[in-house]
Amino acid sequence: MSTTHFGFQAVDEAEKARRVRGVFDSVASKYDLMNDLMSMGLHRAWKAYTIAVSGVREGQRVLDIAGGTGDLARAFARRVGPTGTVVHTDINEAMLRTGRDRLLDEGLVLPTTICDAECLPFPANSFDVVSVAFGLRNMTHKERALAEMCRVLKPGGKLLVLEFSKVAKPLEKAYDWYSFSVLPRLGQWVAGDAASYRYLAESIRMHPGQQELKAMMKAAGFGHVDVHNLTAGVVALHVGIKC
Ligand SMILES: C[S@@+](CC[C@H](N)C(=O)[O-])C[C@H]1O[C@@H](n2cnc3c(N)ncnc32)[C@H](O)[C@@H]1O
Repeated sequence: MSTTHFGFQAVDEAEKARRVRGVFDSVASKYDLMNDLMSMGLHRAWKAYTIAVSGVREGQRVLDIAGGTGDLARAFARRVGPTGTVVHTDINEAMLRTGRDRLLDEGLVLPTTICDAECLPFPANSFDVVSVAFGLRNMTHKERALAEMCRVLKPGGKLLVLEFSKVAKPLEKAYDWYSFSVLPRLGQWVAGDAASYRYLAESIRMHPGQQELKAMMKAAGFGHVDVHNLTAGVVALHVGIKC
């Protein structure tokens, strides 16, 4: 069995998937509150920007991968309207259930499916847009997941990868202090779970930076990839076109 990383630790590949599941089982019920607190609400602006860049129109078919509690799926559903389709998916049942309940409370009934991004249960060339927000970092075989996203997109379709990235140099010290000193304490205080938020900080440091991810997307089959740095690179939106 090959090894990979879970945060800063080297672990077996199967062990990583098990531990990632443990993290999201643990945080699911407090996920939305923690997202607002940790990002001071900024995740809403990053997601709104992603939706704007998607260019999604009425009647289109959208696949939201690692959709969790459904922020992007909800916004896409409003854009595609009753003639379009948004499929809300995640590998984790607790996250997906929390999202589905929230969407139902808002009057939205979307097709919801548990699925692993590395092995998508959809035919080739079936979506206009595929999105993955803050999910790629947690996947064991990122190249495999990106190739799957490319496969299910129609030619000319767009992949949106919103993910933490490499912050601008002058901010590195302050960002490290916030990530490793403040986040785990906030996690302990609000969700009773410091370890999951330490994993968050570590997994961000292990994730490929802007240019490396762009190269991975090109290798996965995207003919054109644009990178949008947000909040000085704390987050980046990679937009890949299947040519
Ligand atoms: C940080 S949450 C992001 C949720 C949501 N997209 C958002 O932006 O708020 C990361 C999600 O990735 C999911 N995930 C991790 N590995 C996955 C995989 N291999 N396939 C699909 N989803 C995965 C987790 O279950 C979790 O719900």
